Amino acid sequence: MGKLIIRGGNPLNGEVTISGAKNAALPLIASAILAPGEMVLRNVPRLKDVETMGMLLQHLEARFLHDGEVRIDTSTIAGIDAPYDLVRTMRASVLVLGPLLARMGEAVVSLPGGCAIGARPINLHLMGLEKMGATITLEQGYVRAKARRLKGASIYFDMPTVTGTENLMMAASLADGLTVLENAACEPEVSDLANALNKMGASIEGAGTTTIRIEGVNRLNPIDYAIIPDRIETGTFMAAAGITGGKIRIKACRWEHLDAIIMKLTEAGIEIEKDGEDIIVRGPERLAAVNVKTMPYPGFPTDMQAQFMAMMSIADGTSVITENIFENRFMHVSELMRMGANIIIDGATATVKGIPFLRGAPVMATDLRASASLIIAGLVARGETHVSRIYHLDRGYDAIERKLRALGADIERAKES
Ligand code: EPZ
Repeated sequence: MGKLIIRGGNPLNGEVTISGAKNAALPLIASAILAPGEMVLRNVPRLKDVETMGMLLQHLEARFLHDGEVRIDTSTIAGIDAPYDLVRTMRASVLVLGPLLARMGEAVVSLPGGCAIGARPINLHLMGLEKMGATITLEQGYVRAKARRLKGASIYFDMPTVTGTENLMMAASLADGLTVLENAACEPEVSDLANALNKMGASIEGAGTTTIRIEGVNRLNPIDYAIIPDRIETGTFMAAAGITGGKIRIKACRWEHLDAIIMKLTEAGIEIEKDGEDIIVRGPERLAAVNVKTMPYPGFPTDMQAQFMAMMSIADGTSVITENIFENRFMHVSELMRMGANIIIDGATATVKGIPFLRGAPVMATDLRASASLIIAGLVARGETHVSRIYHLDRGYDAIERKLRALGADIERAKES
């Protein structure tokens, strides 16, 4: 397993180009199951999770190639199962459930099992498919779903679910009749998927709002499609520039996907301005303490909570961070405390008392965004920080240490001793 060695103290300067969004790429790759023929996806990041989704499609006997762009051909698809050994490494594998059911009439998908940041059940995905006429049985840790042809239904989500909305939007695209999703997730990645599905011939209205209407069609055709940039990678680099007091230009990002992130980072004293299609970020001498609550989009994203907490650990004052989406997304706290951070957890709330500086230390990554949080802390800590178990990081960031080094960070990858 690898680790990152970071020597703190260098303000970041220069420009960085954002990669395609992981959480847009994964559902879009799954959507190829709905449309036989060659599909091309561009701006797809080189990530472990993208590789895993590709392996899953190959397991289903589809063709998957990632050289520059992603080329998929599901004409030959014959499998209907997503095995445990793949699903347990990437919960987003559940995104093949809706497309397989719609295309093949049957799907056998392993239940994802536990995850570091929370139980993350898929009951809402299954509820929706049952309303659309699927018979769902659970057998030895697998979901078996069957439906000769799904039929349109009205579905209300008890809580907004991103992949639940995506799964049902894909299933409904080939269903018979109208499906209405209420209390749907509004994330930009949901809208990107809807845009692609409509280009494939689907009839979807309202994506990006809490009510999405999908009129089923008989056939979808493969497309050539460029995915949106990664708003969480963008926010991560903004936080890295903010905490190190640097000045960076961020290219290939989308200002309109970043409202809550820009609001909160600006409140913390970071200067953020639009320059054409780019964003210029300038970090202050010292950050101001700011409270934040994670919420479904367009609220402050849970995927930026750990990175924001790293910033607040050396801010001037005390900040209160509330995690409303996942029940166990504070595992970076104990690692930040090894670096001297002063944080008290009480249920879903972490109270962060800003200190003058962090000290480098050996720390362990526990999940994808916790890894980013520890890197951000290491960039500003006094001394050397070793972040171990960075396989978590490689799932969701495309060559982040190369990008950070190009901005002047003293960071290198090494073998874990
Ligand atoms: C997506 O996960 C993202 N992953 C996550 O990004 C992100 O943190 C999350 O949305 C929230 O924004 C992908 O898009 C591949 P949810 P997802 O269903 O869809 C509960 C990252 O770091 N829930 O929106 O799995 C669930 O437990 C990853 O890139 C149910 O109870 O999240 C959670 O508390 C991490 N039943 C809440 O809803 C269900 O059937 C939101 O989960 C589904 C969800």
